[in-house]
Amino acid sequence: IKNIAVLTSGGDAPGMNACIRAVIRTGIYNGINMFGVLQGYQGLINNNINPMDARSVSNIIHLGGTVLKTARCLEFKTEEGMEIAFQNLKARDIDGLVVIGGDGTFTGAQRFGHKYGVRVMGVPGTIDNDLYGSDFTLGYDTAINTVIEAIDKIRDTADSHDRLFFIEVMGRDSGCIALRSSIASGAEAVLLPEKETSLDELISQLEAGASTKKSSSIVIVSEGHKQGGAYDIAKKVKERFNHYDTKVTILGHLQRGGSPSSFDRILGSRLGFAAVNELLKGNTMQMVGLRGNDIVTTDIEEALTKHSFKLESDLLEMTKVLSI
Ligand code: F6P
Repeated sequence: IKNIAVLTSGGDAPGMNACIRAVIRTGIYNGINMFGVLQGYQGLINNNINPMDARSVSNIIHLGGTVLKTARCLEFKTEEGMEIAFQNLKARDIDGLVVIGGDGTFTGAQRFGHKYGVRVMGVPGTIDNDLYGSDFTLGYDTAINTVIEAIDKIRDTADSHDRLFFIEVMGRDSGCIALRSSIASGAEAVLLPEKETSLDELISQLEAGASTKKSSSIVIVSEGHKQGGAYDIAKKVKERFNHYDTKVTILGHLQRGGSPSSFDRILGSRLGFAAVNELLKGNTMQMVGLRGNDIVTTDIEEALTKHSFKLESDLLEMTKVLSI
């Protein structure tokens, strides 16, 4: 391998910049010519591929978002799009590609790697923490910190007005952000995509709190929750339970921004460093990840097809016990 390119794709996640920095510098340290692709797979198609040096990644470790920009690219799903992308890489003799993103990103990488033989290494970057092969994905820790900072503020006003708040958090199919932030913020209840909670159950939990003099309550609703978002749930609850004035807050995209936590900066650095080292060893079609405190690799195929239930059982139990 002589030339490696790096791109970020899908939703951005804090820590991506630390990872880009590690990829570029690890490559350069090992005598590789490094390239940065702007706007993910779209940049491969648009020939937006630029040489990078050690200084191109100075002063970015603390920044949220991604300096390489990102996109969700439909054109790369077509044979024509992939062919143009390949020709653009070939023109620069780029034979290694590091892709930082979530499952959509890996699906593209897998098809591309298989078809053209470009060596591909994936880095799990998504706030949702919904990939098999890594206990934590890049950005998840920062997102939870952002969420609990927001909930702490809502708690102040909920308490002052004796209100019930329904707060919707991100996680398209994953309740990881919701579960952890509910424990860390001391929420009264949490609704998750992975676990059915009936309206009766939720209402009896809230009733129990009201009967033991809780003056305000916070319910976290994961955006992927099957029975609807925070507005739907709030409406249904209000019809049957009216002890408090009820409000809804959707935290939305603020959860994806902000300076990465120390955990995400270190994880991004470790994964970027590992991704380049794996390519240098001749490995391809794998994803680097964190298991316990070790960096491990998983076949991209496996990462995409195996689904792990990532909700910690003690945290699930604690949502009932600690909220009484
Ligand atoms: O996958 C990360 C994520 O932030 C999800 O939690 C959310 O559902 C989605 O991206 C939002 O995507 P977009 O920014 O394209 O609206």
